[in-house]
Amino acid sequence: MLSKEPKSFRTITSGGKLIGTVKVPGDKSISHRALIFGAIAEGETVIKGLLPAEDPISTASCLRAMGVRISPIDNNQMVKVEGVGLDGLREPDAILNCGNSGTTMRLLLGLLVGCKNRHFVLIGDSSLQRRPMQRVGQPLRLMGGKVNGRSNGNFAPLSVSGQQLHGAVVGTPVASAQVKSAILLAALNAEGSTKVIEPSSSRDHSERMLKGFGANIEISGELGRHITVNPGANLKAQQIVVPGDISSAAFWLVAATLIPNSNITIENVGLNPTRTGILEVMKQIGANYKIFNTKDIAGEPIGDIKVVHTSNLKPFKIDGELMPRLIDEIPILTLAACFCDGVSHINDASELRIKETDRLTVITRQLIKMGANIIEHPDGLTVHGVHKLNGASLDSETDHRIAMTLAIASIIANHESTITGSDASSVSYPAFWEDLERLRT
Ligand code: S3P
Repeated sequence: MLSKEPKSFRTITSGGKLIGTVKVPGDKSISHRALIFGAIAEGETVIKGLLPAEDPISTASCLRAMGVRISPIDNNQMVKVEGVGLDGLREPDAILNCGNSGTTMRLLLGLLVGCKNRHFVLIGDSSLQRRPMQRVGQPLRLMGGKVNGRSNGNFAPLSVSGQQLHGAVVGTPVASAQVKSAILLAALNAEGSTKVIEPSSSRDHSERMLKGFGANIEISGELGRHITVNPGANLKAQQIVVPGDISSAAFWLVAATLIPNSNITIENVGLNPTRTGILEVMKQIGANYKIFNTKDIAGEPIGDIKVVHTSNLKPFKIDGELMPRLIDEIPILTLAACFCDGVSHINDASELRIKETDRLTVITRQLIKMGANIIEHPDGLTVHGVHKLNGASLDSETDHRIAMTLAIASIIANHESTITGSDASSVSYPAFWEDLERLRT
């Protein structure tokens, strides 16, 4: 019998402040896309600042299994991707393992469904095998795609039989960049144009990057919700610079705001407006931060952010179109709400229930152990500011963003805490614990 991997475990003392400068690792969403678009372009794509974490490594190893040569993904190394062209992926000899990464599985479905006469099987870890894939399989079927799996194709293991696809007009029921990007990828190889209509704008890294690679893509409608791909244009290899991930920066933004005497400068943070919802919440609560050194790099806006401790924070409200712009920041914002003066409301957040874990339940369960006052609803949370948390025995429940939120909560708490599964952070931020150690004084 295979023995189970031992779970990581850390003890975190409370107290101290966070001071200094930190450069967060490359944006996870942009890293996946740089690898995938590079793989189907013509020529050698060179990626600077690619996130060297488990999720993009899953994408790279799936692409390698289909004949794409990708140089090793190490810290601070340029990554080179030798593109095989729009229809050049090879049928793999083995199952494609997407690990913990929903983005890998969903984007690959869109990429592979139009690879005619080739067959693919995709699996993931136990968390990914519980995440719904029908939201991608269903629109791809409208384009003639064949995706099968457990529960009528909703759960991995999934199999894809590549087909000649046809363009379609596809309305997506939720604002999901993973769903949208899968459709855009399938559209590149379809016969005729494809239009995706989103209920509200999800992150637009695919659209920006596809334009850079030379795809024929048009954005129209209010807030860029209609995206049309006209097939026929080959993608051309690019030089890509990946900005720092605002979803990783979020931990330092909230930590410095909550922890007395803290002062952190976060360098090179991606400031794409479809991702900066957290900065709007920081404004709502009266946090003290400043953005400077702003510029555009490879089609994405970036800047540095300086943030210092603030007391007397106001409660906040998140709902509607703001939600997709900060979807991954809800765990750390729930912690922030525990230190606001009054009641904060997080609504329209049911998507959180189908992330790496059910994040509404997991963050509530863990912070309540520390004395938080959080009421869970089907689609959100009501958080009463308590201004004080107790040390506790905590568990990331395998979720990277929960692990990092609990690390910050443990420092603020009045007594030492332990975190089981602390190294889940390496899914998106491999150097998180080292950066924390360095910033702590
Ligand atoms: C991602 C999109 C978001 C986000 C995820 C990464 C992407 O998911 O939560 O971490 O790279 O496209 P949805 O598109 O499903 O909302």
